[in-house]
Amino acid sequence: MRDAVGGAQTLVVFGGGSEIALATARELVAHGTRTVVLAAREPDGLAEPAATLRDAGASRVECVAFDAQDVDGHPAAVARAFAAARADVDVVLVAFGVLGPAGRAQLDHEAVRDVFATNAVGGVSVTALAARMLLDQGHGTIVVLSSVAGERARAANYLYGASKAGLDAFAQGLGDDLHGSGVDVMVVRPGFVHTKMTAGLEPAPLSTTPELVAAAIAEGLRRGSPVVWAPAPLRWVMGVVRHLPRPLMRRLPR
Ligand SMILES: NC(=O)c1ccc[n+]([C@@H]2O[C@H](COP(=O)([O-])OP(=O)(O)OC[C@H]3O[C@@H](n4cnc5c(N)ncnc54)[C@H](OP(=O)(O)O)[C@@H]3O)[C@@H](O)[C@H]2O)c1
Repeated sequence: MRDAVGGAQTLVVFGGGSEIALATARELVAHGTRTVVLAAREPDGLAEPAATLRDAGASRVECVAFDAQDVDGHPAAVARAFAAARADVDVVLVAFGVLGPAGRAQLDHEAVRDVFATNAVGGVSVTALAARMLLDQGHGTIVVLSSVAGERARAANYLYGASKAGLDAFAQGLGDDLHGSGVDVMVVRPGFVHTKMTAGLEPAPLSTTPELVAAAIAEGLRRGSPVVWAPAPLRWVMGVVRHLPRPLMRRLPR
């Protein structure tokens, strides 16, 4: 249950090793979140970030197993993560994702399967299961990490962008469907964020940090925003990019 001033007390993260997710967990713990469940492929590897969250004031941090590509296992994995919270869940953060390759490697069968199985099928599956759990308890917010890449396909990363576009559209429609139910959906569209996902890549304009994305997410939760851009000016930039003529899009760096 949210505290007296509306702050989330309990957070469940799918993709618990994500740098954006861990920065968000630290930000929320700094503002009163007390229970954090980190669901990840290798929960044993999360001892250090879990200890950091405890040092920052979390009274309980649980690490549980979860594989985004094991869709058949999702109902049990999501139920396990909610059970580990041992209380109503205020915020569910859907954070896992893979960038996949660039260039012609985007046509590799394995890459197509991997990126869509994780970001699109996995993301939609977990979001839907979390929505059902939150509807059963009558309240809560699902925060879905989408991307500006889903707003307009680019030759450089259309495989990733297409997978995020699918997840983003599902989350938007779900948010509208659940309006008034007590369950909210917040779509987060970061630009280039300096994390292990983008290590070694040339930073795009308006690149940002996990901590600044986390602050934008926390602010979005306080305001009840349905969409958060990180950084905020990307909203206007992408409004233009969305309508750029194809010949101009083809000139963007690959
Ligand atoms: N960084 C950016 O520029 C950027 C921009 C826009 C949106 N995003 C999105 O933000 C989210 C977080 O990304 P990040 O930047 O924090 O990158 P990150 O640190 O690399 O986090 C991605 C996480 O996804 C997890 N993951 C990948 N495949 C998985 C699977 N099959 N099952 C479970 N977990 C899996 C990874 O787990 P392991 O730790 O086990 O590898 C990792 O913890 C992603 O959805 C990403 O697409 C990132």
